[in-house]
Amino acid sequence: MKLKYKLPRGTYDILPKDQPYWQFIKNTVTKRCLGFGYGELETPIYENAEIFQKGVGESTDVVQKEMFETHRMGLFEDEKEEKYALRPEFTGGFCRAYLEHGMHIWPQPVKLFHPGGPIFRYGRPQKGRFRQFQQFNIETIGNEEPLTHALTILLVWQIYSDLGLDKYLTLQINSIGCKKCQPKIKKRLISEIEPCQDKLCSDCQRRLYTNPLRIIDCKESRCQKIVSDLPHMVDLICTECRKHFMDVLEYLDELKITYDLNPFLVRGLDYYTRTTFEIYDKKDRGGQSSLGGGGSYDNLIELYGGPLTPAIGFAGGIERIIDKIKEKNIIVPEIAQADIFMIHIGARAKKIALHIISDLSEAGYRISCAVGKDTLKSQLKAANKVKAKLAIIVGQREALDKTVIVKNMFEVTQETIERKEVLEYLSKLLPNKKESEIDKI
Ligand code: HAM
Repeated sequence: MKLKYKLPRGTYDILPKDQPYWQFIKNTVTKRCLGFGYGELETPIYENAEIFQKGVGESTDVVQKEMFETHRMGLFEDEKEEKYALRPEFTGGFCRAYLEHGMHIWPQPVKLFHPGGPIFRYGRPQKGRFRQFQQFNIETIGNEEPLTHALTILLVWQIYSDLGLDKYLTLQINSIGCKKCQPKIKKRLISEIEPCQDKLCSDCQRRLYTNPLRIIDCKESRCQKIVSDLPHMVDLICTECRKHFMDVLEYLDELKITYDLNPFLVRGLDYYTRTTFEIYDKKDRGGQSSLGGGGSYDNLIELYGGPLTPAIGFAGGIERIIDKIKEKNIIVPEIAQADIFMIHIGARAKKIALHIISDLSEAGYRISCAVGKDTLKSQLKAANKVKAKLAIIVGQREALDKTVIVKNMFEVTQETIERKEVLEYLSKLLPNKKESEIDKI
């Protein structure tokens, strides 16, 4: 068959067999974040494009090359033309919502999270790099103390530990200074790089005078060579920022969270100040494929017209985390597709099965059946496939006798009971009928 339509490049389908991985990550994030007092925030998939142009930054790859922008042409007379973008990250939308819902007058810090949702970046697709991918996202808004930074990092690290990945990963950390010292740092970087600017890639040659920090972040080997000779960021930041950073590290030591100082970790988005951090596989020496990254951004809310509000946050790349979970053969909790499988043999049994399915699903059981399979053998096979705990069997005899057979699929035992007693009988066998497998994770 020649397919008429295919997936857009850089996207993928999540098939039922992979759902347990997604559920595992989203449930783990939700459980940990709620445990730390974070509230779940859902923002739209598209926002005013300016949110990202101002926040992520005009000179970043994300805004310059990768934004999915749309124009709203003012189709309805009460609308003005506006430029929107599919969100290339959560942070901008979270900060917009923080201000729009007056969260700046709530007790600070305001702690918000999203367990995982689609993000769009029009980059060149490659392994672990998609045009539509998913992030989980955490933001702690309204406090700048080193303790807040350490606690946010603790939450992040515990999520990766809960996923069984901590022993394979490293936390890299750096400080890139505040609004006051960053202009001086940029000046110094320009003077260091200027003598060899013709050796930079064309993008970095363009960025040298506007945003030299982006050169440190460039993955081109010729730029990396120049970067490796640059002074370390901790030696360039102001005394106040250095003290703040040392305090963050001291708290991490206290928490026994091991970290690697990475003097060139500047992050690819413009809004960061002070602490920056990323999670990598210990074996990923070049640091090409982070499993998550974040940092503090003390001036973003002010840039959006709000009061000066320090904040710190993090986003995890869910596809990359799933790849790592699979690579390390970590077993994730299965999602049982059905508690009960309804098996029917003969025309009369089919009608009875309809009633039983309707009653049991009404009572909160997950019940399934195989339409189009008529033999006992084929239906039992289907019940095994969905890992049903029980099968209810109605054959020709049971249809006449007003009975059903309840078969335990795991222990190979069975019992015949009156049809009208099914609900009561099941309530003893599956007492937690409304508690799904997902709730138990
Ligand atoms: P980011 O470093 O741009 O940070 O993205 C976070 C994570 O998303 C990355 O570490 C990576 O795992 C994943 N990721 C990024 N791009 C792709 C892609 N094209 N395909 C697959 N995965 C990808 C942010 O987005 C910040 N908003 C994080 C943050 C929150 N900072 C403060 N608060």
